[in-house]
Amino acid sequence: MITRYKQYFLLFFSCILISGCAVEQPPVNEDEMLKSKISQLVQAERNNFTSQNVSSYPLGSVLSGGGSQPANNSVSGWRQVIEDYQKNSTIPVIYGVDAVHGHNNLSGATIFPHNIGLGAANDEDLVRRIGVATGKEVSATGVHWNFAPVLAVVQDIRWGRTYESFSEDPLIVSRLGSAYIQGLQSVGIAGTAKHFLADGATVFGTGSGNYLVDQGDTQLDEEEIRRVHLYPYLAAINEGDVLTVMVSFSSINGEKMHASKYWITDVLKGELGFKGLVISDWEAIHQLPGSLYQQIVAAMNAGVDMLMEPVKWKESVDTMMRAVKNGDISKERIEDAYQRVMVVKEKLGLIDGSFEAYEESVIHSQEHQDLAREAVAKSLVLLKNSNVLPLKKSAKILLIGPGADNAGLASGGWTFSWQGETGNDKFPQATTLKKAFEAVVGQNGGSVTTDISLINEVDIVVLALAENPYAEGVGDASDLSLAGSLMHPGNKEAIDFAKSTKKPVVTILTAGRPRLISDELKDWDAFVMAWLYGSEASGITDVLFGDLNFTGKLPFSWPKTSNTDTISSIDPDRDESNVLFDFGFGLRYE
Ligand code: BGC
Ligand code: BGC
Repeated sequence: MITRYKQYFLLFFSCILISGCAVEQPPVNEDEMLKSKISQLVQAERNNFTSQNVSSYPLGSVLSGGGSQPANNSVSGWRQVIEDYQKNSTIPVIYGVDAVHGHNNLSGATIFPHNIGLGAANDEDLVRRIGVATGKEVSATGVHWNFAPVLAVVQDIRWGRTYESFSEDPLIVSRLGSAYIQGLQSVGIAGTAKHFLADGATVFGTGSGNYLVDQGDTQLDEEEIRRVHLYPYLAAINEGDVLTVMVSFSSINGEKMHASKYWITDVLKGELGFKGLVISDWEAIHQLPGSLYQQIVAAMNAGVDMLMEPVKWKESVDTMMRAVKNGDISKERIEDAYQRVMVVKEKLGLIDGSFEAYEESVIHSQEHQDLAREAVAKSLVLLKNSNVLPLKKSAKILLIGPGADNAGLASGGWTFSWQGETGNDKFPQATTLKKAFEAVVGQNGGSVTTDISLINEVDIVVLALAENPYAEGVGDASDLSLAGSLMHPGNKEAIDFAKSTKKPVVTILTAGRPRLISDELKDWDAFVMAWLYGSEASGITDVLFGDLNFTGKLPFSWPKTSNTDTISSIDPDRDESNVLFDFGFGLRYE
């Protein structure tokens, strides 16, 4: 633990070394000292917190919410934003983003498959390398902290955050989650195990507000919660040495996680020995009962160390001051939270000024493109193949459907904007499916067209179906059919056209979770699940043309109907009759 004096000492010296840094005297009176400590326990969103605000409220942290990028969305633009905060702060701010599949808010970044695809690949070494690559791209922009990975062990795929989860199986989540954290933190970026606890088991129909599943209530006994949902946190702490944990919006048996002293203080910090900092989720404490005062008292006393208060950061500091003065939050609790924030900053090299950003050249480097391509190839799951795959490189191909040439749909939510994008405008760096096909057939005497009037001239139809992008509760779905909630409206026409032709049909589905295909499957000669694969579709053609074999296996059970509350392979009350393809299923070429 660093002492107050050591901290000012270190700062004083780093300020002498880094010219231009304003040397500030330590606050003199007790009130100011308390305010500066409490300010370290609050995080604001960059849109609501200027670099001038730092002088009067030296907040511990600033975040970019989903899609909140600087007007100049380049490496230098990001660095400038962060440097502006540091200029005015005595203790450097720790800057956080959701880089959940690559540095997904940065223009031109490498977009890796979302976690569900990595769960299908189920390759720890691959995920560790993705952690490293993402960490480097994040670091290059001057950012220090990534709110990833999600450790949810999702049990009902109707949840809109299913694609952020590696698997319905706690073992896969634990192994891949820890590997990701190791990779990320090895290049000096703090990871976040989220969302604590049991966010993946909320019951359909209990979601908050208009949501069906998101931010809902988990109704399980403690033994099951520990066995399935706590397990990945154990690994994240013991094997990943994760620096931060984010609390879940959700509840356990009616108790909001943000007020749960038992789970946060007794279990996470006590039993599991977590020494890093616990952050609340986005305005999540506002869902606790009572006034802001009561909410802050409840969360801080439950063991939350930093409040993610994108908008009400000033009120949060002022209110916490009052609560401490009134004795509703003890000075020891504040001191503990403060030390935890300082430990993380110290480990990242923010206190002694040793944090070093990677070079801009890491962004979408050839090495990262190759890694993403490898990840895409390994994430694909072959679910049907009646002798049409692998394709011949000399084939004449008709490529149809909304996923044919669309990097936005291939990337899904948490890409460029919170809810994701439709189209290619924001992704000049991406290789779309169409481009990937063109690159292969163009050199081998084949052809690819998207013009359906040429149907009689082609050998085969590739049908690229896609979900529309979504994030969090917006993605909760009650109807998982191909025409159901959140599917792109263009799918239907393409499905009907493919059915009407006599040509063989290879279907590729781009989606954040399994969708219902029992009715359509008989009309397709091959079916490949591609998840939300991101910017490098060449990983798909590598496998479709047979340069690589399929190795991906289903990380989630594939349902027959939308009643998906009891299809998970770890559910003791599993309804086998609703399973179309089992967890772990996936075909290969002979
Ligand atoms: C999400 C978190 C995310 C945070 C900051 C919340 O709404 O639940 O996963 O880290 O926003 O963007
Ligand atoms: C932000 C996200 C955040 C969400 C929570 C959005 O406006 O961009 O980061 O998770 O709000 O509701």
